[in-house]
Amino acid sequence: MLKATGIAKSFAGNEILRGISLEVERGELISIIGPSGCGKSTFLRCLNFLEHPDAGEVRVEDVTVASTGSWRRADEVQAHRLRSHVGMVFQSFNLFPHRTVLENVMLAPMQVKRMSETQAKHVACELLEKVGLAAVKNRYPDRLSGGQQQRAAIARALAMKPSVMLYDEPTSALDPELSEEVLSVMRALDAEGMTQLVVTHDMRFARAASDRVLFMEAGQIVESGDPDVMFANPREAGTRRFLRTLL
Ligand SMILES: Nc1ncnc2c1ncn2[C@@H]1O[C@H](COP(=O)(O)OP(=O)(O)O)[C@@H](O)[C@H]1O
Ligand SMILES: [Mg+2]
Repeated sequence: MLKATGIAKSFAGNEILRGISLEVERGELISIIGPSGCGKSTFLRCLNFLEHPDAGEVRVEDVTVASTGSWRRADEVQAHRLRSHVGMVFQSFNLFPHRTVLENVMLAPMQVKRMSETQAKHVACELLEKVGLAAVKNRYPDRLSGGQQQRAAIARALAMKPSVMLYDEPTSALDPELSEEVLSVMRALDAEGMTQLVVTHDMRFARAASDRVLFMEAGQIVESGDPDVMFANPREAGTRRFLRTLL
């Protein structure tokens, strides 16, 4: 349902992504791990063209966007179509501070999908119920805990009915017990069949919840596989080194 082929990206002459290819099946939960600076965030951002890769192609559902190096208006139109299938959640929540939680979740469906206010409210209330925020839906983000803000950000992404959710270190800014609230929402989405790609430093979550783990190093996926197998018995020296530094 998502296929990336040969994604390459340089910044100022430094090759940050060295031709990454990845196929994701519907319903998979994939964790991406690897040392700081290896290109995890850049890769995630290239998957929905928040960053334009220098080369490569991404397909999500029936939308394919190829990067030819020269980005044209037509490519931006395709990228916009692709993004409508992709939900993204960041470490820093990124909620609109001057809107209530409910308004945060209603906004995109009304503005982008031209959904009526009544319908958007209905959808938003359902999603906020699902992530456990029904009781605080009329509060402003700064009145919520970090865990609640991140769950609101997930509900906001889900309101666009994405086929795949991308998370960039969704729990890195959170204390352990608040992380757990967020991770349990992600597990529940997995149980419902949502496709999810998660860049994470939480190895316990990566091991226990993922269908597949990708280890990235220096702009490449150097090892991927079943989490129990990889954590117990990493094949590549780089993976062994990385996992050892975490113990
Ligand atoms: N917009 C940018 N301009 C220049 N360099 C960047 C930019 N974004 C990322 N980089 C560089 O690319 C490398 C990979 O960054 P990133 O994808 O954020 O790594 P990770 O998420 O694995 O920590 C880093 O060396 C970072 O400094
Ligand atoms: Mg990062």
